[in-house]
Amino acid sequence: MKITLAKTAGFCFGVERAVNTVYKQVDKDSGCQIYTYGPIIHNQEVIKDMENKGIIVLTDEEDLKQIENGIVIIRSHGVSKQIYELLAKKGIECVDATCPYVKKIHRIVAEQKEAGRKIIIIGNAAHPEVEGIIGWADGEASVISSPEEAGSICFPENEKVCIVAQTTFNYNKFEELVEILREKRYDIIVLNTICSATKARQTEAKRIAEESDAMIVIGDKHSSNTQKLFEICKNACKNTYYIQTLEDLELNQLGSVTTVGITAGASTPKNIIEEVQNNVRINF
Ligand code: F3S
Repeated sequence: MKITLAKTAGFCFGVERAVNTVYKQVDKDSGCQIYTYGPIIHNQEVIKDMENKGIIVLTDEEDLKQIENGIVIIRSHGVSKQIYELLAKKGIECVDATCPYVKKIHRIVAEQKEAGRKIIIIGNAAHPEVEGIIGWADGEASVISSPEEAGSICFPENEKVCIVAQTTFNYNKFEELVEILREKRYDIIVLNTICSATKARQTEAKRIAEESDAMIVIGDKHSSNTQKLFEICKNACKNTYYIQTLEDLELNQLGSVTTVGITAGASTPKNIIEEVQNNVRINF
């Protein structure tokens, strides 16, 4: 039996940094209530563990307005400028775990807006990362995710435009939408701000799935990047299983196989991945 664990399985750099930030704050034991602005990651196991350690998740700005003190941790997706201003106004300590790649987009957008460019974000308007980026353009950004939306953008000819992307947006789709915008005769700056972590994880997962008799994808059922990973693996290997934890894995399901591949979504903790890997190894 050969088990191949994907090198890119589990937390990306930004998520790992954010999760560690939370646990470091808990260890400091400052006596202050710790909050996270939104769930730190899409993983019920981790969130439950944090709740057991006394951490409270603030759902939105309204929740934030209700608190008077404590420490608020900003997750890797980042937030708008207004949230930092609100925290400062209330005198609440802010621990910023925004991924540096997302921070870079905030900087670009604020500078280019200041320089008089219209901002176009290629991404999902409802995603918290994109909501945060819009805030750095003073709420005046166009968000597009389809060729139709790109086609309907309408500025005067030669308008100065800056295009950025949500970090997890699909690269080929990004290129397609940029091409549509290029035809519009604007004065365009394109900044490809897509993070390579998602692409690398998907490429490796596909390669391992193609080479394995069975494939295990570990991640929260609500995690969209794990769902996508499962789809990719299933297409490459029919014998693919989507599990949240070891409990979901029925080893006899795998059948008589000699090679098993394992990968995990960006919000799956290392201990869950190792537990699955060790169990598969012991039982075959
Ligand atoms: Fe950061 Fe890329 Fe992860 S932007 S949060 S390292 S997917």
